[in-house]
Amino acid sequence: MARTLPKQNAVVETSAAQIAVHWREEEYYYPSAKFVGQSNLSDPDINERFSEKNFPECFREYADLLSWDKYWDTTLDTSDPPFWKWFVGGKINASYNCVDRHLDKYKNKAAIIFVPEPESEAPVSLTYRELYVRVNEFAALLRDFCGLKSGDRVTIHMPMIPELPVTMLACARLGVIHSVVFGGFSGEACGLRAADSGSKVLITMDGYYRNGKLLDHKAAADIAIETAKQAGTVVEKALFWRRHADQNASTSPFVEGRDFWVDEILPRYSGEIVPPVPMDAEAPLFLMYTSGSTGKPKGCQHRTGGYLAYVTGCSKYIQDIHPEDVYWCMADIGWITGHSFIVYGPLALAATSVIYEGVPTYPDAGRVWRIAERLDVNIFHTSPTAIRMLRKSGHDEPTKYNYHFKHMTTVGEPIEPEVWRWYYETVGKGEAVIVDTWWQTENGGFLCTTKPALDPMKPGSAGPGMPGIYPTILDEMGEEVHAGSGKAGNICIRNPWPGIMQTIWGDRDRFVTQYYAKYCKDTNSKNWQDWPYFAADGAVQAVDGYFRILGRVDDVINVAGHRLGTKEIESACLTVPEVAEAAVVPVVDEIKGRVPEVYIVLQPDILPPQHQEILAKVNHVIETMIGKIARPRRILIVPDMPKTRSGKLMRRILAALSNNMNTGDITTLANPDVVESVRVMVQGKEVVALTDGPEDLKAFGSVD
Ligand code: WTA
Repeated sequence: MARTLPKQNAVVETSAAQIAVHWREEEYYYPSAKFVGQSNLSDPDINERFSEKNFPECFREYADLLSWDKYWDTTLDTSDPPFWKWFVGGKINASYNCVDRHLDKYKNKAAIIFVPEPESEAPVSLTYRELYVRVNEFAALLRDFCGLKSGDRVTIHMPMIPELPVTMLACARLGVIHSVVFGGFSGEACGLRAADSGSKVLITMDGYYRNGKLLDHKAAADIAIETAKQAGTVVEKALFWRRHADQNASTSPFVEGRDFWVDEILPRYSGEIVPPVPMDAEAPLFLMYTSGSTGKPKGCQHRTGGYLAYVTGCSKYIQDIHPEDVYWCMADIGWITGHSFIVYGPLALAATSVIYEGVPTYPDAGRVWRIAERLDVNIFHTSPTAIRMLRKSGHDEPTKYNYHFKHMTTVGEPIEPEVWRWYYETVGKGEAVIVDTWWQTENGGFLCTTKPALDPMKPGSAGPGMPGIYPTILDEMGEEVHAGSGKAGNICIRNPWPGIMQTIWGDRDRFVTQYYAKYCKDTNSKNWQDWPYFAADGAVQAVDGYFRILGRVDDVINVAGHRLGTKEIESACLTVPEVAEAAVVPVVDEIKGRVPEVYIVLQPDILPPQHQEILAKVNHVIETMIGKIARPRRILIVPDMPKTRSGKLMRRILAALSNNMNTGDITTLANPDVVESVRVMVQGKEVVALTDGPEDLKAFGSVD
């Protein structure tokens, strides 16, 4: 029977696809002979091997980097589009692949080096042998003390400490699906995710260091458990790792029979070995919640075999990780970058992966470079926000330290060419190759990037599609926007790949609607060619085939490389009873790329003396329901929102006002006069010079 798909919100007015983008073409930079000589991927034949005529079997190459309990029969099963299945029939365990299989050769090598935020605490190394012991003991605890078995879900709300990968790998050993929630998210945000995934166990910690302070993290667990309960899920056990032996960083009381210190239970399982469970390649490995175009975050469900194969391939060929390397990715493990490129990819390759607990500029702008020097890091991975922050706070700091990177990554946001050049010249000392990797939580691993020894770098451009990834830019009508046309459009991936998520946890329909409805012309088709993946990013492609990513075309704001849904923030605002309407828009920020700005309309009977208190309430509710990362730049109380005659709130106009951009034609609005009064509020009485604004903000036209 034909399935009918609800269409994505139609894009209104200016869309990315209609905008001509003009910028200076940047010059190429080339990798050094030294880098090329040692690279894992210096054979240009890769392009041929991963070309369309060899799809999907080309991905065997990645899967063959792993150790399988049972080899698969079918590389790609397309019988139920767009629910692709990879390496069907295969059995594999992710924990075995990241730990056990390295013992023969590397048991005494550091798997993880933990750098605590306080500089008075020395870095701690965990060898592969030690990781093996800890993962096994904790897996025994999960199995025997918590009664967890394969297919169960566990929510993990932990900071950047080695116990986090230990916990993840212990889950993976049993086939328990982990759902790590970023430690900076509030207790409520964590609780809602725990409820959505049906987690009966929460694993967290008493506290951690951030900017010189030992934060109480347990308090968030109490809120999370209460929130989950209200949402219908009872968390039966909460396990707390401890930041300092014999201390408690939290003042909140333990609940008898529910809360347990890990270090009090773990000795019972001392020396236990838990056999890794051979999992179906298609068994879910983890959930990672991310923001989308509705208020409810979606649980991206990643498969075991395909995901692990894909991140291992990306780590080997794009990150150029060798077992001898000291690799440092500064992302948080609570985001997809940390899952793929701190834990699973590097450990599958027997690398040494560095985990830093704290703030990059604590206690000063030289901290990152001191860590790099002390540990002799040679591969470095971070986001444009961190690069901008380090550049601003210590432009010449890197020159003071004796470290040498061979390879650096930028990920998460578009990087400005001048920031790229600082990264290259000053951080990389002109020696390190840079990859600008474009991808998303949904994708498992990279989609567009240069191959570091093979393709020249171009500041500000991610590069061509990854081997085996065939990107294209489509306009609103589904027509291809050609390379070199100077026109932007929606970047899509024409084909399935092993790292793509399986579905949205518990919501198949939303998976289809969100990513495939927009461009699938025949929903009965079993051909993957009919199912382009819609990434919700605007992009342009230069004549050389390189993609430049402009930013989101939906209502997601990328704050400091982290995804926040405008709808999530708006829903939080609306829980304040005095708020009648709320609209959230992105504002350009020098360091964080974008920050949210909030507009609210109050209930009719509210008087100005109450405004201050309401603003404080709105601020507070955003922090408690989502987290400090969602803190708005400003909250503006406005008399009314600009609306179309059919009553649709025009966020695009508010975004234009907040960014001193042209609002465009407003005469068709139901209330055009409101725009002027809001403009005066936002920009002051003087007319501010209006610009056409950054190109990617123009693409934000589609949010309304
Ligand atoms: C943005 C992070 C430009 C993009 C891995 C995407 C980028 C969103 C880049 C996904 C890049 C990611 N250049 N923009 N190299 N990488 N983005 O899910 O808008 O946290 O859709 O995954 O970040 O963010 P997410």
